[in-house]
Amino acid sequence: MKQAAAKAAIAHVPDECVVGVGSGSTANFFIAELGGIRRRIKGAVASSEASAKRLKELGIRVLDLNGVDELPVYVDGADEVTRHLAMIKGGGGALTREKIVAAVAKQFVCIADQSKLVDVLGRFPLPVEVIPIARSYVARELAKLGGSPAWRQDFVTDNGNVILDVRNLAITAPVELETRLDQIAGVVTNGLFARRGADVLLLGTTTGVQTLKR
Ligand code: A5P
Repeated sequence: MKQAAAKAAIAHVPDECVVGVGSGSTANFFIAELGGIRRRIKGAVASSEASAKRLKELGIRVLDLNGVDELPVYVDGADEVTRHLAMIKGGGGALTREKIVAAVAKQFVCIADQSKLVDVLGRFPLPVEVIPIARSYVARELAKLGGSPAWRQDFVTDNGNVILDVRNLAITAPVELETRLDQIAGVVTNGLFARRGADVLLLGTTTGVQTLKR
């Protein structure tokens, strides 16, 4: 189902463009599909070192985001996604670069299997990337909001930071919570993608790929 969604995303990639490429197992299927059309794109911007490595292995040029003015499309997976196309991301720890590349892209195409579709976000622990010295302070602030943060052990992000995975947050107002969490000193990014959600969801199901639009 992940692979079918990834395949369907190729139709959203214009000729001669630079493509934004996400991270994770579903994005890896998309990278494999991109290999097949590498001659019709200029290159890619990757949201993680791991994805950049995979792209290069397939002979796809990886560009620095700072040198790219236009990114027509960003394709990435999600840990949870609603019918309004708000998401939780960051299970793989790449949330900050994912949010940056998504911010630049004109269109965000989310690719996911049907297990990722939820009515309310929050069963999946919300990843929050934190500057290392702020870890305990941010954890206390998250607890005040009703969350149960856990330090992701033996993990450092591509940006040299740590991740707190937060359980027990009832995320009924994702835009407000995303904004609120970003205001805690020491938080680099939180894994709510609600202010800039996806524009299109390609959902792999047992009966084929469904398309949901914002
Ligand atoms: C990576 O940091 C994440 O945001 C991924 O996009 C997300 O975890 C989905 O991963 P899978 O495609 O492996 O489920």
